[in-house]
Amino acid sequence: MEKILVIGACGQLGTELTLKLRDLFGTEQVIASDLREAADLIKDGPFESLDVMNKEALDQLIEKHQITQIYHLAAILSAKGEQNPKFAWDLNMTSLLNVLEAGRNGVSKIYWPSSIAVFGPSTPKTKTPQNTIMDPNTVYGISKLAGERWCDWYYQKHGVDVRSIRYPGLIGYKAQPGGGTTDYAVDIFWKAILEGSYDCFLKADSRLPMMYMDDAVKATIDLMETDADKIKVRSSYNVSAISLSPEMLYAEIVKRYPDFKISYSPDFRQTIADSWPNSMDDSEARKDWGWEPAFDLEKMSQTMLDNLENILVTTK
Ligand code: NAD
Ligand code: SER
Repeated sequence: MEKILVIGACGQLGTELTLKLRDLFGTEQVIASDLREAADLIKDGPFESLDVMNKEALDQLIEKHQITQIYHLAAILSAKGEQNPKFAWDLNMTSLLNVLEAGRNGVSKIYWPSSIAVFGPSTPKTKTPQNTIMDPNTVYGISKLAGERWCDWYYQKHGVDVRSIRYPGLIGYKAQPGGGTTDYAVDIFWKAILEGSYDCFLKADSRLPMMYMDDAVKATIDLMETDADKIKVRSSYNVSAISLSPEMLYAEIVKRYPDFKISYSPDFRQTIADSWPNSMDDSEARKDWGWEPAFDLEKMSQTMLDNLENILVTTK
């Protein structure tokens, strides 16, 4: 029977992934862990405080719960990383190496996310291929690219069954984003409902790849459940769903909130956004493990508004 450890379970992705893994494998089979206190949504199941930088504590936890799979999500994202570069590099790299070592020492399957941030200003921007120029210019992107190479190395040299996806910006309503360049695409929905106006930190036409959280969770679990011999990419797979800009998102929201106003005050995050692709070629993921998104821009926007309206009305 699988015993799964989620590291960084209280984050934007971790909260939703933990809930889904518990649905699929049983609540007691999924141990949530984080540096922070257990988030409300995942409090009902097993939770352990863990600083993944502490290798001994990680190894003890793996031993205690007889962990067979790890989803390692703890990281500093792009915007926060530029504000504390050395810390971001240390966390993103050391934590991954601690987890990959656990794979070498017996944990049978590992998931670790990469990002569109592995690409940079010289990368082809549209339908960015799986294999292309990669010149990331953020500490976050550099750490993700290095992480991809480490994953591939541990697979090639030690047979560690590590799997990875280059997520685009993730959009969900259950948990707040943790300091990325794509966070505006979540904030805008909250502001539309609560305040009726939003000042966006990216330009109106700044187009980036994005994905609704249900698609991201589905992609993650599908990849982890695929037979190992079908997985041909051991660095990280491109996946694609929606390519959108602030003005495109605004046009969707204004359909339901006609008085909603948007203004634009681009800050340092604009330079980061400008260095990333605006859409991705995900044909390898489609071919190798059947990836297909279910949410387009309209469906994602309506689902976000429906769910946030429910939450904000019931908590009033
Ligand atoms: P997040 O910032 O919301 O969550 C990260 C979690 O890790 C937090 O709960 C934090 O407390 C925890 N954490 C930080 N340091 C830790 C430590 N030392 N030990 C244990 N836990 C620690 O991030 P997220 O958006 O959920 O992202 C999860 C993963 O997905 C990251 O690797 C990120 O790079 C990747 N990713 C996210 C996005 C996105 O749009 N959210 C896009 C691409 C890739
Ligand atoms: N959404 C992430 C960020 O903006 C991309 O990895 O940092």
